[in-house]
Amino acid sequence: MQTAPLPDFPAGFRWGVSTSAYQIEGAARADGRGPSIWDTFAHSPGRVVDGSNGDVACDHYHRYAEDIALMAGLGVTAYRFSVAWPRVLPTGTGAVNPPGLDFYERLVDGLLEQGIDPVATLFHWDLPQPVQDAGGWLNRDTAHRFAEYADLVAARLGDRVKLWITLNEPFIHMSLGHGTGEHAPGAALLFDAFPVAHHQLLGHGLAVAALRARCGAPVAIANNYSPVRPVGTDPADLAAAAGYEALHNRLFTDPLLGRGYPTELGFDESVVRDGDLDVIAAPLDVLGVNYYNPTGVRAPEEGSPLPFELVPLDGYPRTAFDWPVAPDGLRELLDWLHRRYGPDLPPIQITESGCAYDDTPDAEGRVPDPDRIAYLDGHLRAVHAAMADGVDVTGYFVWSLLDNWEWAEGFTKRFGLVHVDFATGARTPKSSYSWLREAIAAARREP
Ligand code: NOJ
Repeated sequence: MQTAPLPDFPAGFRWGVSTSAYQIEGAARADGRGPSIWDTFAHSPGRVVDGSNGDVACDHYHRYAEDIALMAGLGVTAYRFSVAWPRVLPTGTGAVNPPGLDFYERLVDGLLEQGIDPVATLFHWDLPQPVQDAGGWLNRDTAHRFAEYADLVAARLGDRVKLWITLNEPFIHMSLGHGTGEHAPGAALLFDAFPVAHHQLLGHGLAVAALRARCGAPVAIANNYSPVRPVGTDPADLAAAAGYEALHNRLFTDPLLGRGYPTELGFDESVVRDGDLDVIAAPLDVLGVNYYNPTGVRAPEEGSPLPFELVPLDGYPRTAFDWPVAPDGLRELLDWLHRRYGPDLPPIQITESGCAYDDTPDAEGRVPDPDRIAYLDGHLRAVHAAMADGVDVTGYFVWSLLDNWEWAEGFTKRFGLVHVDFATGARTPKSSYSWLREAIAAARREP
């Protein structure tokens, strides 16, 4: 598919792809890896739509060299992966599992050999099961265990990782993992899940201090954001939308940027101790922004346990996840962050942006995915427009390098630039891979 050339991005803009450990690594019991809450959850009947799990996934643990070659072929300057806490510390704490750290060292060194910056996320939802058994993120101790684990990984890789990301989407881990129970560990506490927000943020702040004590690499967190669009003009709809906006977009970012928790949500904040908010507000070098789509919100039906209802937005094309394709939402979001947080807002990197489609190889074995090309083209233009508005955006990572295991959706949602045949592990770059390779090459070419 032909698209008009993209506008110029500045030299040094980071072009990346993202993945996460449980979604691609497989090798769930190899080399001393311990169980995580996602192993437990995925192996519980009825939790994952196709009954699958991440035992094998893309088998990246064994095929990482092939995957690095795919990234080198794409021309990216950075790769965002996550370290599986239970691979490094099988029980979550205590004795380290050397083969686990060795794996990430091989990965990091392989990336550096290709001139690709390693960007490491420390928690992408795969909490060691023994840490969950001790209370998980509902327990304040987990914040301290997380910082110890961060310290351990930084001691080994801190001289080579170019950007640390402490947590991935703590809002989703709180809301789907502990609010509604759609994700591991499957708790359905609704608004009583607030301690999970606070303890993740505390763990983030403690980990920032640990990372800074070990190495000079910049530190970030990857939050997901969604511009909220009220559906309906009734004051009750507007109030529901404002409440959801505070929950989704501000609950984590306000305290991270020194504004404390939004008060209008009415959470029981008794778990917040003196000094915690200062730890949480440790200066960030980069704010990671994961963006997929805007969210429609209206007032809930009588008797709903939640003070809002999420509704589909009309008027947009849709992905296979039924998510609206709305690049304008990304510009709106970046402009909003810039306006709201002003000088407190660190430089932004888009740490995830992407889409799922039902991509299948054609008779010649090629995988055409014109919708993904249109998606990436539109979202890169939106980033550029926000930069022209004055927002400091320094990188863009596509979710995802590979088709992979999409949590409760199992193998049914394909987000990759590279198609994966899950029966054989065979990788086939899609047409979006070629498109992005050309776009990156053009952007990196000397003027
Ligand atoms: C955000 C999550 O970080 C990632 O793990 C997931 O696969 C994508 N969204 C797509 O849902």
